Amino acid sequence: MSKAGLRQRPRGKEKDMYEVSKRDKDEEKWPYTNGQLDPFAKAIGAAVVIVMTILITYFRYQQYLRDIIITPVDSHLIIPANGSWPTVTPDRFWGTYRHSKEELKTDMTTIARPQAYFGVKSRSKTSPLFGLMWMSQLTNQMPPPLRHWCDQGDRLESYVWLKHDGENFGVQEIKEKLFTIKTEFVKQPGGDHGGDWSARISFIPKDPAVSVVVSSFFYTALDQDNGWLEPKFTKGRLTSVHGWHEDLGNFDLQMPNIEATNEVKAGVKSQIKHSYFVSHAKQLDQLKDILVNGLKVEAWDKGRTQPYFTLSGRRVPRDVPGPNYVVKQVTAHLPFTMEVIYQSGSFLYRQDQLSKESFSTLIRSNEEEFDAKFEKVFHLEQRGYSLNEINFAKAALSNMLGGIGYFYGSSLVQSRYNTEPVNYWEAPLYTAVPSRPFFPRGFLWDEGFHNMLISMWNSEISKDIIGHWIDLMNTEGWIPREQILGVEARAKVPSEFVVQRNTNANPPTFFLPLQGLIKEMIQSNKTSDKAYLKALYPRLKRWFDYYNTTQKGDLPFTYRWHGRDSSLTKQLNPLTLTSGLDDYPRASHPTTDERHVDLRCWIALAAGVMRDIARSLGQEWQKYEDTHDLLTDNKLLDKLHWSSKAQQYSDWGLHTDNVRLEKPKPPANQHPSQRHQHMDTDKIRVVLTEPTKQFVNAFGYVSLFPFLLKIVDANSPKLDRILSDITDPTKLWTDFGLRSISRNSKFYGRFNTEHDPPYWRGPIWINMNYLCLSALHHYSTVDGPYRERARTVYTNLRKNLVANIFKEYEKTGYIWENYNDKTGEGKGSHPFTGWSALVVLMMAEIF
Ligand SMILES: *[C@@H]1O[C@H](CO)[C@@H](O)[C@H](O)[C@H]1NC(C)=O
Ligand SMILES: *[C@@H]1O[C@H](CO)[C@@H](O)[C@H](O)[C@H]1NC(C)=O
Ligand SMILES: *[C@@H]1O[C@H](CO)[C@@H](O)[C@H](O)[C@H]1NC(C)=O
Repeated sequence: MSKAGLRQRPRGKEKDMYEVSKRDKDEEKWPYTNGQLDPFAKAIGAAVVIVMTILITYFRYQQYLRDIIITPVDSHLIIPANGSWPTVTPDRFWGTYRHSKEELKTDMTTIARPQAYFGVKSRSKTSPLFGLMWMSQLTNQMPPPLRHWCDQGDRLESYVWLKHDGENFGVQEIKEKLFTIKTEFVKQPGGDHGGDWSARISFIPKDPAVSVVVSSFFYTALDQDNGWLEPKFTKGRLTSVHGWHEDLGNFDLQMPNIEATNEVKAGVKSQIKHSYFVSHAKQLDQLKDILVNGLKVEAWDKGRTQPYFTLSGRRVPRDVPGPNYVVKQVTAHLPFTMEVIYQSGSFLYRQDQLSKESFSTLIRSNEEEFDAKFEKVFHLEQRGYSLNEINFAKAALSNMLGGIGYFYGSSLVQSRYNTEPVNYWEAPLYTAVPSRPFFPRGFLWDEGFHNMLISMWNSEISKDIIGHWIDLMNTEGWIPREQILGVEARAKVPSEFVVQRNTNANPPTFFLPLQGLIKEMIQSNKTSDKAYLKALYPRLKRWFDYYNTTQKGDLPFTYRWHGRDSSLTKQLNPLTLTSGLDDYPRASHPTTDERHVDLRCWIALAAGVMRDIARSLGQEWQKYEDTHDLLTDNKLLDKLHWSSKAQQYSDWGLHTDNVRLEKPKPPANQHPSQRHQHMDTDKIRVVLTEPTKQFVNAFGYVSLFPFLLKIVDANSPKLDRILSDITDPTKLWTDFGLRSISRNSKFYGRFNTEHDPPYWRGPIWINMNYLCLSALHHYSTVDGPYRERARTVYTNLRKNLVANIFKEYEKTGYIWENYNDKTGEGKGSHPFTGWSALVVLMMAEIF
């Protein structure tokens, strides 16, 4: 963008000069010419200079405006440039972070590649990739499906990190119909490159009497610009890969031969077949396709007619420097177990290779440590939970930690000065993700909730994550809310989903975990924490200002989510994606004087946390206190947002709920042969009653915000009213948690367009229920007339939520995006162990 701008600027200048000098040439006709420079020509010359200066300044200014959005805030980074190096954070260098930018390239249907079922990479931005694929053999399918990326379409019975501590180890169970795969991963520190790691992958039949043959494929791949690979063979079998990488130095991946665990089973002589693939991948997103192309069919044994797929050996084109993709295939009757052992070249004096007994011992000691820490942090045994319930909670936490990814790239962004989207600067992002198969990328407002849980478990991980996010701030104090890093992601995705606009905010949920983290950092008195806070604070100030200024409403001290589109014709109620509650009904006709009660409450929360941080850092805190007092003033809040007619807190704006989606009527004079065209068009919104300026009378999560964020005065009768409304089964109460909007609302369960089913219009969402429990907990501990009542509601709501999420997990194998308000059934993407994993904190009563 800036290059194109520079190219155009001189051209404009030349044109002006040319035009002026041409006029100069014609000056014979002009009356004042007599051989010397006359005053008129001088005046013209001066004018030219002035005009040019103005033009240059103008174009520079335009360029400046266009660049604002991609200018980083001028402030120290929280995570320094070397923050992910193995010498700085060795514990987090290697991990199960498999959704890198290389893997975002080609998927046609989703925005980013999901996470691999099992893969390992480092936090080097060009890290080599290691991973598992598998395939059932001797089936009647041609070829049988090859598993690699988490995909709901695979219809696996479940795949769960049973234990994962986010740093040292993880144990996962993947359930196919006929067999289970256990993937165990553990690290061992040493040397300068993050040490060693090993993985053990076990294929276990569900019914030992049924003969199942499965192939396991374990691969190593890297980009040849950054390193090389060299396969090693013993007696014709691939037994290791030696390699070098710019950030890892020398390394070895050993793949020892598996031993036949079952010589003779059910009359079938056990066979183990080995093969390999040594190849070249131009792009690392094509590993699966390249592998499929490298398969050939062979006979398994004389007795079997079904096909057996095996890899075809060395296939390296002549014109490349050498292989960069090496795969070992092992095929056997189940059960069998294989190990892969990664050893770092700079780790010189290791006692034991991480294999066999030493692997088992290390995994076991990590598991024991995990179990002990889990109990120490969450006290679930002490609270009397059953073993199954505790294992469920461990899986919820572990899946959140196991889903953490490390991304590198830039988002596409656009401001009103850019006619085309432009690239944000390239940057790393270490973040958890909402869902491994479906939302495998960073989402700003989800991440605040994620870190409520993560910070309880390991505050170092949280600080690392939050630091990476806050470092993405531009000079306006804006952070793009969805992180779709990597050029490749965009080509296939409609731009309205990809391009992030700087007018659009998203709830500043990081203030929720930051409250506790900052207290902890101030108390710790560690040098690293001091440096962190020093870099964090100016950025938070900027962030707060962004919300407090750009999201202002027309009236003083009101706020509105900017970026709602009033020009849409197909949406029943224009979306408010910025609020995080996409289709939750707001004013039907977006205007600049509408006001949003949830945003006001978020900013009030932020002001309060800013006051606390500023005070404890010895910084100027009074203005945050003033803003906080103002925004939590119940009188002003009631004046702006309490609808006395509906007896609830509400948004205010130009609104009618008397709207409907209808097929557009064909024009009366249309020829019958053109009729069918109209059959294909989408329904459009028809406004049956003209909108008026009023409180928006939908009742649901948004109406609860002053209560959810603990702003309602504990003595306020409005608190009593809210407690009545949430416990009313015709409104929000269900046996499974609070539904998103009242059953009585006109928008309850309604599609927003012909194709968009209700999302925040009925289902039960766990993040909002968590905030609700937190509020009830608060009101049941502070003095006030409704304290006992709050306690009762708290107890019942907590019981319902935990019981239902657990029940659905036992029944379906998954934790879900949201839950049906009539049946409690899990709905939407799964596993969804982003904020739905907050169930752990509900069980532990940590708010
Ligand atoms: C990382 O960078 C910081 C400066 O940003 C420096 O003080 C520190 O020594 C570096 N650490 C390593 C291990 O290179
Ligand atoms: C924090 O560290 C400083 C020195 O760096 C020391 O003077 C102070 O007493 C420490 N405070 C606490 C609470 O440990
Ligand atoms: C927030 O904005 C209001 C004006 O809308 C201003 O009066 C107040 O001082 C601001 N708060 C802070 C902390 O900057």
